[in-house]
Amino acid sequence: AIEQKVDSVLALMNLKEKIGQMVQYSASWDVTGPASAEGDKFKEEKLKKGEVGSMLNVTSVEAVRNAQKLVMENSRLKIPLIFAYDVIHGYKTIFPIPLGESASWDLDIIEKSARIAAKETSAAGMQWTFAPMIDISRDARWGRIMEGSGEDTYLGSKIGVARIKGFQGDDLSKNNTIAACAKHFAGYGFGEAGRDYNTVNIGEHELHNVILPPFKAAAEAGVATFMNAFNEIDGIPATGSKVLQRDLLKGEWGWNGFIVSDWGSIGEMIAHGFAKDKKHAAEIALNAGSDMDMESYAYEAELEKLIEENKVKLSDIDDAVKRILRLKFQLGLFDDPYKYCDEEREKNEIYTKEHLEIARDVAKRSIVLLKNDTVKKSTLLPLSKDINSIAVIGPLADDKDTPLGNWRAHGEYNSAISLLEGVKAAVGNSTKIYYEKGVELTSKTVEPGENQFLHHIEYNTTDRSGIAAAVNAAKKAEVVLLAIGENAYQTGEGRSQTNIGFIGLQQELLEAVYAVNKNIVIVLMNGRPMDIAWAAEHVPSILECWHLGSQSGYAISDVLFGDYNPSGKLPVSFPYNVGQEPLYYNQKNTGRPMSTQVTYSGYNDAPKEALFPFGYGLSYTNFTYSKLSLDKSEMDKGGEIKVSVNVTNNGSRDGEEVVQLYIRDLVGSLTRPIKELKGFNKVMIKAGETKTINFTINAETLQFYTVNKKWEVESGEFNVWVGGSSTTNNMAKFTVN
Ligand code: IFM
Repeated sequence: AIEQKVDSVLALMNLKEKIGQMVQYSASWDVTGPASAEGDKFKEEKLKKGEVGSMLNVTSVEAVRNAQKLVMENSRLKIPLIFAYDVIHGYKTIFPIPLGESASWDLDIIEKSARIAAKETSAAGMQWTFAPMIDISRDARWGRIMEGSGEDTYLGSKIGVARIKGFQGDDLSKNNTIAACAKHFAGYGFGEAGRDYNTVNIGEHELHNVILPPFKAAAEAGVATFMNAFNEIDGIPATGSKVLQRDLLKGEWGWNGFIVSDWGSIGEMIAHGFAKDKKHAAEIALNAGSDMDMESYAYEAELEKLIEENKVKLSDIDDAVKRILRLKFQLGLFDDPYKYCDEEREKNEIYTKEHLEIARDVAKRSIVLLKNDTVKKSTLLPLSKDINSIAVIGPLADDKDTPLGNWRAHGEYNSAISLLEGVKAAVGNSTKIYYEKGVELTSKTVEPGENQFLHHIEYNTTDRSGIAAAVNAAKKAEVVLLAIGENAYQTGEGRSQTNIGFIGLQQELLEAVYAVNKNIVIVLMNGRPMDIAWAAEHVPSILECWHLGSQSGYAISDVLFGDYNPSGKLPVSFPYNVGQEPLYYNQKNTGRPMSTQVTYSGYNDAPKEALFPFGYGLSYTNFTYSKLSLDKSEMDKGGEIKVSVNVTNNGSRDGEEVVQLYIRDLVGSLTRPIKELKGFNKVMIKAGETKTINFTINAETLQFYTVNKKWEVESGEFNVWVGGSSTTNNMAKFTVN
């Protein structure tokens, strides 16, 4: 029925109105990229004429209503606008940054947090988010690594789908679900040297085996929209790639949603040296299958002329418009263009107590215990709530803003629970707390209300005046909680870095405190894998706390004091130093993998492996793996093998373990990675209990994009591992005939 409605609307439209549907404007200038110098008045006039299909960054019921009215009360056909916003990890109730949330390996809670983000976004009048970002990235230098789910294709595919389900629910026509957007298609996470927007050079097989599977999974899960990418791949800007958009996504995969460009990315094909002017850029983008132009002003200016000159086809414009109208019908906007405009909902359904409780739950499950060494017969963590004294030190210790991270949508400045607040709420009156900042991390950062895209962060490298007081506090306390890491805006778009260590004077503070008190728990807050090699060598306990969102301090304290047993596992490898980047567990073996000689594929001054590898994370209890067994040792290509393993909780606390299954295809028509994640299961195991965990290996597990440019299973020998990290050596073998 929707298709008929779409056709009947299309039949009424003239060319200008059709092109108008393919135009997206931002509400204000300079929001997420360089904007045109023309004024808002111009946009208003275009809206009135029905020559705009969508707006982004219109973020309240009142503003949405006003913009929608301009169209509904003035335009000839009254085709409602669709409103989009970057809701990346929550709207106002802020959840952990996606990279952090991915460390939970918990698809249910990931779906739940997206569900809440959808409820809040729709209550504020909008019905489309530019999320999830499903770019695989293996480079800690890239600032946007915070926005994805890390380095692994399998994990990234599962998490992407969970987020899409959360945003879209089971029915897009409900007024509390929103359309999702799989971005950035494709390769954006593979920019050379970790530099944002940079050139991507990967082979076709790598593209299909590593980068595209999460997008295919998103398309299959029914994601409503895709966004293309700023980068070029192998000489072709993604925005102008017909192979990716028209041939693969819309053709081979048969996906019927629409593709929005990234901000100005159609126009940027001129700077890429791929289009000679805006007209040429519009021609390339449309022919490639890019349906909606975000802030390039190329389609509106050029498509009519291009039609006259027969450089683009009317049928391609019609196809783009149909895709856009289809979503508007699915959302119910034609029935009621104001269906998301409900002031009561806006007042009552955003930042609720219930949402904050869930944000705390998600946050505590995203924390990864990296190190917890025994110091004088016991570990520092978990701390007793009756502890005599704690020093809470560091530039991020009482920071109420950093935990909100980048891309925080309507997360209010300084609204997060700080670590200090969380600790104070957890302990009794008898515990003495000494708080000292020690050093400032930044000397200038983004102020509330300022546009972060216009700022470079300045770090404090000179003011050491607080270090003495911090050392003093550390001397007096039984345990030091040292909150260091990264400012909220050190990661995110345009925030690539070559230094991924403790910037500014933080390392100096750490060493000064360590000199007087070795009982340190580092509470790491960050948006990327960092170089924490010195800390990992010296400090007994390290808790990876990412940027955990609104309830950060409470969630961290839940783990610090043992109310929650940490269960997170790294979704990305932590290096010994930045020189190892890009770093990932599922590397190829190379022809010289051995490490006993000089002339092998490694480094002379660092290991080639990660300091903390993908899949790694400790618990307050101990899990051991035994009896890895396969129901048979051979299978046909279309058959299956059942794998089981016993996991025992040997400690005295209940805990959750992420049981991970990896495979290796020993010989292939193309070289295969030394290990590939192909299954995982997060399970609660009671103290002393043993659970049998089962997996199935079948064609889906074993296939890859082969030398024949097809997804195929190849016969031969395979290894399979099941364990608690990518470095597990709990292995068995099987053969595929
Ligand atoms: O959605 C974003 C995209 O990820 C990066 N450029 C700007 C877009 C809209 O804000």
